Amino acid sequence: MHSKRSRLDRFISAHCAIKRKDIRLLLAQGRVQVDGVRATDVDLQVDQFSHITLDQRVLQERSASYVMLHKPVGVVSATRDVEHQTVLDLMARPDRAELHLAGRLDLNSSGLMLLTNDGQWSRRLTAPESKLPKRYRVTLGKPLTRDYVDAFARGFYFPYEGITTLPARLEILSDHCAEVILCEGKYHQIKRMFGRFRNPVLKLHRTAIGQLELDPELKPGESRDLTCHELALLAEESASI
Ligand code: URA
Repeated sequence: MHSKRSRLDRFISAHCAIKRKDIRLLLAQGRVQVDGVRATDVDLQVDQFSHITLDQRVLQERSASYVMLHKPVGVVSATRDVEHQTVLDLMARPDRAELHLAGRLDLNSSGLMLLTNDGQWSRRLTAPESKLPKRYRVTLGKPLTRDYVDAFARGFYFPYEGITTLPARLEILSDHCAEVILCEGKYHQIKRMFGRFRNPVLKLHRTAIGQLELDPELKPGESRDLTCHELALLAEESASI
């Protein structure tokens, strides 16, 4: 998962109004560092998160943020909203204003959400082609039957979009509780699927995205940075896109 890259000489020329031919000289003189290492190659690829200095003057120092949040019910999956508290309002971190959402949950759903300042990363995760499985714990108003399992596996025709939903896995956990795994995210998808059985969804909680599990230590409203291991898990799963 790489952010958009450009050549080092193009970056310096754009940021410092120095002609590209003069940049060769700066590099040869060892005056430019990228991520703490002296850069000598004009072709070196840099991205929005490379730390770049010229004569110890910082030209760019922006670090990538990848955040897991336990979204509570009643908080909106948006960066601003006139009516409701947003997921960003829950965070106190200094780079909060730079973050955007990698996927959404409905206002009355809870669970795992991802935020980042890396547009390439979020696009890759949320691209329909990624088919990244998302796992939900669902509590229903009426008892479940075996018919649900087959119907979810077959898919439902959604006339508004003119599509049939991809095969989804439903496991009955108890009379009124199921685990559902979807590989897509249509508008209100789970509620609409149970709606076909006239069975209202009382609670909807996302527990995992791909192999990334919601950290059980995070209380509703809490967030933390993803670990390198968690980032690698997601990278592995979306590598084929
Ligand atoms: N399906 C829904 O209906 N709502 C969500 O928030 C997520 C999946």
